[in-house]
Order: sequence, then C-alpha cells, then structure tokens
Amino acid sequence: MNVKYKPQDLTRLPRSVEYRDKAVYMINQRLLPREFKVEAFKTVEEVAEAIKNMTVRGAPAIGAAAAFGLALYAETSKAKTKEEFFEGLERAYETLKNTRPTAVNLFWALNRIKRLVEEHKEDPLEEIKKLIVKEARKIADEDVEANLRMGHYGAEVLPEGNILTHCNAGSLATVHLGTVGAVVRVMHKEGTLKLLWLDETRPVLQGARLSAWEYSYDGLNVKLIVDNAAAFVMQQGLVDAVIVGADRIVANGDFANKIGTYMLAVLAREHGIPFFAVAPLSSIDMNLKNGKEIPIEERSPEEVLTCGGCKIAPDVPVYNPAFDVTPHKYLTGIITDRGVVWPPFKRNLRKLFNDLAKP
Ligand code: MRU
Repeated sequence: MNVKYKPQDLTRLPRSVEYRDKAVYMINQRLLPREFKVEAFKTVEEVAEAIKNMTVRGAPAIGAAAAFGLALYAETSKAKTKEEFFEGLERAYETLKNTRPTAVNLFWALNRIKRLVEEHKEDPLEEIKKLIVKEARKIADEDVEANLRMGHYGAEVLPEGNILTHCNAGSLATVHLGTVGAVVRVMHKEGTLKLLWLDETRPVLQGARLSAWEYSYDGLNVKLIVDNAAAFVMQQGLVDAVIVGADRIVANGDFANKIGTYMLAVLAREHGIPFFAVAPLSSIDMNLKNGKEIPIEERSPEEVLTCGGCKIAPDVPVYNPAFDVTPHKYLTGIITDRGVVWPPFKRNLRKLFNDLAKP
C-alpha cells in the first residue's frame, strides 16, 4: 500500500488521546460542539470514569485511553515491591476493563500490555514500568498508522460521490484521523468525496455533535440529517455508498456498531447501495463465532428521556441498547488496515489472520 498522505495533510485536529507528564490528555467529547477542551486525567479511576461517561468514546480511542491508564498506573504507583506493583496493576486492569463491554479494542489493548508484562515479569521493576509506558505509546501510534492505511485502502474501493455515515468514527473516535474519518478525508483530498451525509445518531448525537463538528472543521462538504431521513435520502438516489465504523467484528463478519447501523445496512441493501465497515485489526475478535455472542451495552434511560439536557419524554420505561449487530450478509466489504476483506468473510478473515501469523 502506497501511503501518500501524512496525518497533517488530512486534518487540522490534534490527537484525541495523548500521554505525557504522568497524565492522560483527552478532548472532552461531552462538551462538543459547544466547547473544545483538552483535559488531563491523573488517576486510573479518572480515566475509567472518562471512558464510562463517554468523555472519550469510539472503539480505538477507548483502547488507547485504557492503555494509557495502565501507563499512568506504572508511573505513579508507590508500590515498594514487585508483588505489590503487580497487585495494583491487576486492580487497574480490572477497573479499566469494567467500563464499557462492547468495543473489543478496550480488552485488546489491556490484554496486550498484560501479556507483555507477563513475558517480562522477571525483569527489574523500573524496566517493567518503562515497558508499559512504551507499549501504551506504541498502541496509540499504531492506531494512527492503521487509520492512514485504511484511509488509502478505503478511498481506492469507494465510489466517487456521496457517502453516508452514522455516529462518529472520525478522528475523535480514534487516536487521530479516524477509521471512516481517514477514508473520507483521503477522498476529500483526492476530490472524490462530493458530499458526506451525517446521521444525527440519537440518543447521544455523535453524528450531530461530533462528526458534524470535526468534518466541517476540516472543510469537508457535509449535510446533517435526522436518523429517520436516511431511507428517504437513499430512495432519492442521493447516496452512493454507506461506510460505518465497528466496535467489534467477529469471525464470520457480523459486527457491532452504534445503534441504528443495522437499520442502515438493511436500507442500503434494499436500495442497491454498497455498504462497508471500516475497522483496524484491533477491532476484530476472532474468538467469537457470530454476532449473537457480542455483549451489547445498555445505557441509562436518561439518554433517551432527555436531549441536550432537556426532558423530552415522561418517565416511562426505556430500552437503550447502545449498539446493534449487523449480520455479515449485508456487508459489501470490510476495510481494514491490512487491506479490504471481501466475502466470504469467514474464510477471508481467517486467511488474513493466518497470513499475518506467518513468519
Ligand atoms: O458509543 P460510542 O460513541 O463509543 O460508539 C462509537 C461507535 O459506534 C463507532 O462507530 C465505533 O466505535 C467505531 S469508531 C472508529
């Protein structure tokens, strides 16, 4: 893959998640679009709470935030013995793990560091601490590289014209650039993106608050619609392809993404519109056979009963699943950082991982 562009060619935004001076720095996504604020998080508990309350959200971004949470523990731990340090590390791991259940990147990042520590458990404590910080930084840097590659792969296979996306799989949802974000930014750079349709994405409004903010900030031609308008826009012939991010893709190609994604996939099929998921390998969980096995997060009724802090419904019972599962039969292809995976997904995903495991 010939990567033509650097991140700074594609966005004016800074990284969403960074680590320096014993603190995790993150853009507070709850405040956008009213206020752009980078905040410092100085304890593991603060990082975990930021993941839970969606100060930081988006699968790769929460993976990086959790990794930096462990880096923070490593650099601030007052443990006097290795044993004490490992006990504290396990507590930090559990605290960060028990935040959001659906996006696999969180577990992928935490387990990657845990495995590394296990392999080096006989090393001097100071070395182990450095190793954790280095690995967390590597996870973040690799995410940016993966996004760049997906951006280029995606722009090669997507048709020129109008693209529709859901939620926010942009720079804010990752360390930098985004998954969908990288694809539409490369298309914009190359002049093949005419219009980017953005679904509002109730109840948390990631499309309206975050995607509309970040893509317009970078000069992309965007148009915001309410979620209910997607079918009509497709019926009018105004959408050439749909691309969405993924919180967890499983071995047969079924995938979890923001609630409403499944609805779009069915609509795209009805209207003969290509439908792609864009995700790095860190979002692919080969341990689960099909989408029924993905744990789906349910969030508070408040998100549905209110909008922008205003009460919009009486206190009736609410069902608020944060994600849904799209069966793989609706997917045209999966754009990964190692190329585009086409059907049959079960065979081709297995082949991709087998090929990568070869020396
Ligand atoms: O609940 P959120 O805002 O964390 O959900 C985010 C999504 O569903 C994204 O589409 C997904 O994480 C992919 S981000 C590159």
